[in-house]
Amino acid sequence: MAFKDDFLWGAAAASYQIEGAWNQDGKGPNIWDIAAKYNHIKHNETGEEAIDHYNRMKDDVALMKAIGLKAYRFSISWARVLPEGTGRVNEAGVRFYSDLVDELIKNGIEPLVTLYHWDYPYALHCRGGWLNDESSEWFLEYTKVVVDALSDRVKYWMTFNEPQCVLGVGYLDGAFAPFQKCSPPELFRMGANMFLSHGKAVKYLRENARQRVYISMAPYASTMMPANDSKEAVDKAYEDTFKCTGPRFAYTMAYFSDPVYLGHYPEDLVAEYGSMIPEFSAEQWALVSAPLDFYGVNIYYHGGYPDDGSGYESNWYKGCPHTDIGWPITPSTMYYSPVFLYKRYGLPVMITENGMSEHDWVFLDGKVHDVYRIDFTQRYLRELSRAADEVPVIGYMHWSVMDNYEWAEGYDKRFGLIYVDYRTQERIIKDSGEWYKRVIESNGKIL
Ligand code: BGC
Repeated sequence: MAFKDDFLWGAAAASYQIEGAWNQDGKGPNIWDIAAKYNHIKHNETGEEAIDHYNRMKDDVALMKAIGLKAYRFSISWARVLPEGTGRVNEAGVRFYSDLVDELIKNGIEPLVTLYHWDYPYALHCRGGWLNDESSEWFLEYTKVVVDALSDRVKYWMTFNEPQCVLGVGYLDGAFAPFQKCSPPELFRMGANMFLSHGKAVKYLRENARQRVYISMAPYASTMMPANDSKEAVDKAYEDTFKCTGPRFAYTMAYFSDPVYLGHYPEDLVAEYGSMIPEFSAEQWALVSAPLDFYGVNIYYHGGYPDDGSGYESNWYKGCPHTDIGWPITPSTMYYSPVFLYKRYGLPVMITENGMSEHDWVFLDGKVHDVYRIDFTQRYLRELSRAADEVPVIGYMHWSVMDNYEWAEGYDKRFGLIYVDYRTQERIIKDSGEWYKRVIESNGKIL
């Protein structure tokens, strides 16, 4: 059967989306704290309180246990640990994550840490952020604090969540914090500093973690869907999936994965931009592309971005089923993405996010009957099971464990297995959470 006995069934969340406590116990501001104050977000909603996970952590872990999670993927808020981004360590912030790890382990839940899920310290943003060539040293300094505090208990590490969104949404389209629009040379320089940050973090982890650790990045998949099952169509989809051309290169998988997993920039990108892309020395390339242990990937829907400017994406058709956030429902991406990624990068795949937003509400019987989320997840997981018969797949993290702050959409979009009433902070396990528990208990056999 597809899923191995030690398959990691889990769910995920990210610091800014759940923690709240934005200035509690010495935390410094990050770029979302600042941007959300200035009308960038729907209904002017901020993550200042979010779902108050910082103050409800133990109860939240109890809920994770109630739905039988074997793993929980969370991110660290850099400015909670280092309020100015570098220098002074905020011990209360470090303690929060250390306590969270203890609580997870006590409840039999494997902790998976993401170092960077988009909440850049505001103090470092003011020093130029990723454009500053010192930024990879800042990232290393932050990584050291986290690794020294947690690596005795945390085995699984991810450096960047969806680096495409950091660069593409944050600095090309200006639709996420810090809401800027930069030129290709600036994007390439920021990208290079992100690659070096990743590499320095991996090196530090390898040399200093207190146990054998498993490391990856966590980009999102933009896998193209083959027109049919023929070998020609599948080969073409594979090739198109890893294209990296045009002004929207920052959104591609190849831009972030080829340097890290293959040790070079994508050839088509180099052909197009040439010397605009900062070159690395041999020593830097060795750092950037040091071997990783798995390919972590967030999978939501089949790719394509409209690089021809038509605005018509290849994954969309008339009447296409889509979620509340407008994303097409394309389950076969959960088969093709792991298969294509394994073919290109040759590492076991972990699904670090997958899920959907819907108009959840509390029914008259006090429950949340999110039948569409169950159907969506079942379809995607069946495809994952098909993939796992062909290539190594080591885990699946549902996005998200709880409803939370959906970035520029504020609290409008609900992705959780657990419903949250944002006025009272009451939590209710949705039907999908109960269903997921049975999936986990059966190791996927009921799918
Ligand atoms: C991100 C999450 C986000 C989710 C739904 C991913 O892009 O990693 O932070 O909430 O998808 O949009």
